[in-house]
Amino acid sequence: MSEATIESILQEKRSFQPPADFAKAAHVPSFEAYQQLCEEAKADPAAFWAKLAEQELDWFQPWDTVLDWQPPAARWFDGGKINISYNCLDRHLTTWRRNKAALIWEGEPGDSRTLTYAQLHREVCQFANVLKQLGVQKGDRVGIYMPMIPEAAIAMLACARIGAPHSVVFGGFSAEALRDRLVDADAKLVVTADGGWRKDAIVPLKDQVDKALANDAVPSVQNVLVVRRTEQKVTMEPGRDHWWHDLQQGASADCPAEPMDSEDMLFVLYTSGSTGKPKGVVHTTAGYNLYTHMTTKWIFDLQDTDVYWCTADVGWITGHSYIVYGPLSNGATTVMYEGAPRPSNPGCFWDVIEKYGVTVFYTAPTAIRAFIKQGEHLPNARNLTSLRLLGTVGEPINPEAWMWYHRVIGGGRCPIVDTWWQTETGGIMITALPGAIATKPGSATLPFPGILADIVNLEGNPVEGSQGGYLVVRHPWPGMMRTVYGDPERFRRTYWEHIAPKDGQYLYFAGDGAHRDDDGYFWVMGRVDDVINVAGHRLGTMEIESALVSHPAVAEAAVVGKPDELKGSDIVAFVTLEGTQTPSEALTKELKQHVVQEIGAIARPGEIRFTDALPKTRSGKIMRRLLRSLASGEEVSGDTSTLEDRGVLDKLREGA
Ligand code: WT7
Repeated sequence: MSEATIESILQEKRSFQPPADFAKAAHVPSFEAYQQLCEEAKADPAAFWAKLAEQELDWFQPWDTVLDWQPPAARWFDGGKINISYNCLDRHLTTWRRNKAALIWEGEPGDSRTLTYAQLHREVCQFANVLKQLGVQKGDRVGIYMPMIPEAAIAMLACARIGAPHSVVFGGFSAEALRDRLVDADAKLVVTADGGWRKDAIVPLKDQVDKALANDAVPSVQNVLVVRRTEQKVTMEPGRDHWWHDLQQGASADCPAEPMDSEDMLFVLYTSGSTGKPKGVVHTTAGYNLYTHMTTKWIFDLQDTDVYWCTADVGWITGHSYIVYGPLSNGATTVMYEGAPRPSNPGCFWDVIEKYGVTVFYTAPTAIRAFIKQGEHLPNARNLTSLRLLGTVGEPINPEAWMWYHRVIGGGRCPIVDTWWQTETGGIMITALPGAIATKPGSATLPFPGILADIVNLEGNPVEGSQGGYLVVRHPWPGMMRTVYGDPERFRRTYWEHIAPKDGQYLYFAGDGAHRDDDGYFWVMGRVDDVINVAGHRLGTMEIESALVSHPAVAEAAVVGKPDELKGSDIVAFVTLEGTQTPSEALTKELKQHVVQEIGAIARPGEIRFTDALPKTRSGKIMRRLLRSLASGEEVSGDTSTLEDRGVLDKLREGA
């Protein structure tokens, strides 16, 4: 973003107070109430979280220590015994919620299903017994590669119930990406479906699993469970593959939740970083349960009459925290939708809102920008008056998109919570509380109570005024990631030593740049590392580069992001070819397809630029800053004196 753009953003004068009637009934009903929570948390963080943990969650055994902080290792509620599946299900069964809708599912094409808390509990217990029958034990990792169907949530909750950490892999990832993740997690079993609906096509999920497991590439996997969904033909390997419905039918519905230690691993979820392979972000039981519970309750202000819908996929952290665990722990009704807006049905989101009377709606800026493009007639053709609160997540939201969302979808009456957080943070960190904090289009506003967010320079000193810097967090919080699976050093290096610790003070480095305005509001500008955010999906440039150079025609590749009106950023790859290869349309197509094959469609480069050489420093480092300017068609500015061969830059310019 240019300096001028940032200046104008920080000058935003539009501000929206929480509507009085909304605030009156809200969990956090005023700015004073918010401030009081913040002060309480600041004065004694351990006491603040302990009080909530006692009030809001059910424990099998109380904890001894609230927080044990030996940077960067945090342990929350040590000595306590708890189970998140119990908190999401069992405890609601002894209340009127027993027969309340837990999960409302809208399938594709056109089928639907509602599971009450009692029904969901039963399915989860049965499936937990299926897992046990197949030899899955406490501590074993289970891979989940599923479409957006109730069985995805059932599988997650069943794993949590028996203490087998799950590793959900987004159904849009390729067989290769799935294999890498299963290998890294050392998964013992995989849950999948014959296929999944994506837009108007079928994704052959089971075939992809077969490919991932071929040639004994993942020796740890002993069994594969397959849900029948699209009814397409699949091959079932005897002894290894089983139909979900065959085993589920006969399984007992009696399966008490395993008392887990607070710090037992709940799940590992892979996400992209600026270096190396995707890393397994580890979350543990009690802290994650508490943090997703509290953030869901206060940010989405869930009341018993709400119908809450988050449009994410369960393959991402948003789906984990805000489709499954947070809402169910609160005893809410959560909607799950298998479809996605597509040319044949661009208004499908509005149909779902009208059909189920959705009251709280949480989606991504990239989706909102696509809706703006389609025009207002689609949402206007549906009754959206049930909505009372809107949310966004995944990337900065441009003020025009915010205003459109507010006016057209929210009818001018719904507060908007712009929620900043990450896979690593487990839950939302910076956001408005809708009954308490006035919003400004484009700002995530203020930190959640108990979160000490700040903006600092590389030395770790707070920046002056509205000058930008690195977004950091100063104190551990219950939902924070605990480690990188199998690589504690990478955890330390990436998040806690990027900004050098001083006087024993460790700062959590988020990888985002941010500014603060005169009211202390946060404006998150985007990644400051080699991570690209494409349509709210996070991709490492290095991952895409490795995918490209694994193609025999490619000698070297450098990948950068360029601004894109719809997707936020798009991927541009600069590629040099092996000796005898020559650039062509066909090769461009082939390379794009190759990346899809290696990673998945979300990583398909928007543009491939062939070049004879890449701009490098004398020490051989690719100068991405120059490539970023070139890709976005900006004048290459700043210091180019370290460039080894200036001719390369001129050629690249001509090529463009
Ligand atoms: C990155 C995390 C957990 C949410 C889904 C993405 C960007 C996320 C916002 C926001 C500005 C945002 C950041 C962050 N981001 N929400 N409201 N405003 N930027 O999770 O894949 O772990 O990506 O998404 O750059 O670091 P993720």
